[in-house]
Amino acid sequence: MSMNLVTLLYLIASVCFIQALKGLSHPTTSIRGNVFGMTGMTIAVLTTAALIAKLAGSPLSLSWVLLGLLVGGSAGAIMAQRVEMTKMPELVAFMHSMIGLAAVFIAVAAVAEPGALLHGLAKGDPIPTGNRLELFLGAAIGAITFSGSVIAFGKLSGKSKFRLFQGAPVQFSGQHLLNLVLGLATVGLGLAFMATESWSAFFAMLALAFVLGVLIIIPIGGADMPVVVSMLNSYSGWAAAGIGFSLNNAMLIIAGSLVGSSGAILSYIMCKAMNRSFINVILGGFGGDTATAAAGDQVQRSVKSGSADDAAFILGNAETVVIVPGYGLAVARAQHAVKELAEKLTEKGITVKYAIHPVAGRMPGHMNVLLAEAEVPYDQVFEMEDINGEFGQTDVAIILGANDVVNPAALQKGSPIYGMPILEAYKAKTVIVNKRSMAAGYAGLDNELFYMDKTMMVFGDAKKVVEEMVKAVE
Ligand code: TAP
Repeated sequence: MSMNLVTLLYLIASVCFIQALKGLSHPTTSIRGNVFGMTGMTIAVLTTAALIAKLAGSPLSLSWVLLGLLVGGSAGAIMAQRVEMTKMPELVAFMHSMIGLAAVFIAVAAVAEPGALLHGLAKGDPIPTGNRLELFLGAAIGAITFSGSVIAFGKLSGKSKFRLFQGAPVQFSGQHLLNLVLGLATVGLGLAFMATESWSAFFAMLALAFVLGVLIIIPIGGADMPVVVSMLNSYSGWAAAGIGFSLNNAMLIIAGSLVGSSGAILSYIMCKAMNRSFINVILGGFGGDTATAAAGDQVQRSVKSGSADDAAFILGNAETVVIVPGYGLAVARAQHAVKELAEKLTEKGITVKYAIHPVAGRMPGHMNVLLAEAEVPYDQVFEMEDINGEFGQTDVAIILGANDVVNPAALQKGSPIYGMPILEAYKAKTVIVNKRSMAAGYAGLDNELFYMDKTMMVFGDAKKVVEEMVKAVE
């Protein structure tokens, strides 16, 4: 295989990745986008394997690569098949951590054996300064991405008792100053590596970058995790692009830059949706009070509750209904039942719309994916800014497994989620809320909406409750 052909195939793979991103920008074209992504990745992997076969000194070298592909590919396929939709963000955080670690390993290998990995170098040649800069940046960003993603994984799964892996932010005095000092020290050591090609400077820089990754993510908690996930997504892309420069691999540079820039754009969109400053989230300033507020504010108060039959009666007598899905709907896998409910109401001449908050659920677009799975017509699904103006004229807002995204606490100064835009379901004439208990949502806050006079709580698993409603709607 000639190098020209390799370059051409890498270019085709890169174009596929660009088409994949384009396709993923809308639900109707997302399947096509995924097909492009898979095609691009297949071309990239096969081309790389063929290139290794050509360059490998012995068949043994290629066998190691194929073994790695087999083990990694099988593990990835099994995990992707088994993962539940609600656990997707953890899987994404895990993938980011692996990309970061891969960047670190490649950088270490390139520093150890520059002649074998770096373009145009023979055995024993010193690493050119430009390559040292690329290796320093790729390794540092990779290390931060790895340890930061491990912490994000723990926080998202919320299962470990280990304090750093819990959703609540970990903050201490002088935290920002410590991060600044460590950040400057990492850069200083990286520059020392560039100047001297010293192994000790390189490893000390790597160690600090690993610690920095942990310290950057631990103070972030509450409702700000979506930004963290997309930010780490962006970091993993830049780490790959940095390593692409070192290996002189155009496809890695293009694919890494695509991931890096799309992750950065997504983080910006998330920050806008949450009314957060990007810099403040990165520095861990927000979400800080959520856990303490949650723990302290649990006072027993009474709510109005009813049965699924009561809810069905209210829904059946409405003219306009807005359904607000949230994380609990995904947990219960109640999307098909919800679609059936909406269809029954529509048959009765009732106007039904779905209201989607940009960070409802646990991953970007979670609710869109869920509703698309049940084949809910896209023209019934409305984004927050398009539907918020309608809640005032809505007869019934029915909230299914959502909490933070409809919490009016976001309107109160001093609240940890103050300023975060919410779906204004509290403005509807009647509000029906389905959840299993009075437990708080992800941000750990009590929700005033549940105690309003016009609100009726229907307790129980979303799937069971909605199925009962479907039966009861006449
Ligand atoms: P949450 O605020 O997490 O509330 C979900 C509610 O669903 C809970 O109060 C829970 O109450 C209820 N629930 C759980 N299982 C249920 C079931 N089987 N049946 C019925 N109800 C059930 O969800 P949300 O309103 O969608 O807000 C999302 C939150 O996650 C935001 O704070 C957001 O910042 C954060 N977050 C989002 C993302 C992305 S990118 N979307 C990523 C990470 C974090 P019970 O336990 O009482 O049932």
